[in-house]
Amino acid sequence: MKAAYFEAHGPLDVIQVGDLPAPVLGPGDVRIQVKAAALNHLDLFVRDGWPGLKVPLPHVGGTDLAGVVVEVAPDVRSVRVGDEVLVNPGLNFEAGPDGHQRIPADVSIVGETRWGGLAEQCVVPATHVLPKPHDMSWETAAALPLASITAMQMVKRKARVKRGDRVLIVGAGGGVAIMALQIAKASGAWICATTGGADKVLKVKALGADVVIDYKASSDWSKEAFLASGKKGFDAIIDSTGTATFSKSVRLLGLGGKLVTCGATTGGLSEVDVKAIFWRQLSILGSTMGIPQDLKDAIKMWEAGQLRAVIDSTWSLDQVRDAMAKMERSEQFGKLVIKP
Ligand SMILES: NC(=O)c1ccc[n+]([C@@H]2O[C@H](COP(=O)([O-])OP(=O)(O)OC[C@H]3O[C@@H](n4cnc5c(N)ncnc54)[C@H](OP(=O)(O)O)[C@@H]3O)[C@@H](O)[C@H]2O)c1
Repeated sequence: MKAAYFEAHGPLDVIQVGDLPAPVLGPGDVRIQVKAAALNHLDLFVRDGWPGLKVPLPHVGGTDLAGVVVEVAPDVRSVRVGDEVLVNPGLNFEAGPDGHQRIPADVSIVGETRWGGLAEQCVVPATHVLPKPHDMSWETAAALPLASITAMQMVKRKARVKRGDRVLIVGAGGGVAIMALQIAKASGAWICATTGGADKVLKVKALGADVVIDYKASSDWSKEAFLASGKKGFDAIIDSTGTATFSKSVRLLGLGGKLVTCGATTGGLSEVDVKAIFWRQLSILGSTMGIPQDLKDAIKMWEAGQLRAVIDSTWSLDQVRDAMAKMERSEQFGKLVIKP
């Protein structure tokens, strides 16, 4: 099968496009002919590698994908050849009895711990495919899962955003942030968002943000955000940018405010004033992936017209490197979709 893959970790030019043997179908698995895949920042991190990451090489990335089932293992009953499906890439993120995620010790994610969707075919467990709604495009079906699952947990179960909350979305042009903005808006929150560039400001406003700050044009985006909050600070902040924004985001929390992070796009280190955390009784909450119900809820919101998968652009498998380069420069607004 044709695939975009790497044989060693590193920057963009480790990505090759060529033929690899198709992945083997194990018990409980289904084989999907990939119609569309979508990039996530995770695909860049896995390609770069990090200390302790053990990925058998060559590796095919691509956490998000959708396609047509072309083969099912003999023990699979829930999925049939010909089914049009999208994939929940979080393979070991389940809900506990309280409805919250049971935090797994090790993650198992399509495109990270097994080959992903940047190929003509992908093999995943039948338990993690969902029927694609008939009127949902392949592009949307690929763009929705990881970002929406992650954002659902951040907004609903970690920040517990409710009607009237003041919410700040940092870097609102990113895949997860776009979903978080829409989910918080649908919960009735008042939204302030930051994004980089005048074009993106218009797009973030169109998604329903009440105030949008261009962090590239502003001399002090955090001061602007503080003023926009009526000098009260925010009840909830969704910020996965890391070093570039984290300490300012903590300062922007109002009394009892919650900052939820799932990422460190610009680096993992940040200086935080501990005194602010206890005096103002702040919560700094980490979040990773979500639970299977989150994707079902995201699909319901999409069907109700409350959640859009914003597609920046669509690329061929041969153009994966160019698409990754665009994501590395944060030039995209929304998802970069790959059509193998
Ligand atoms: N733990 C998990 O389960 C999980 C799941 C998904 C993602 N993540 C992590 O979350 C992060 C976002 O993922 P993603 O796939 O949504 O990435 P993405 O689509 O590449 O979005 C990243 C966004 O970060 C913003 N950004 C970059 N530099 C910035 C700066 N200096 N100030 C403010 N904003 C800045 C940009 O926003 P603008 O476009 O608005 O400028 C950019 O679009 C990544 O670190 C990823 O690894 C974690």
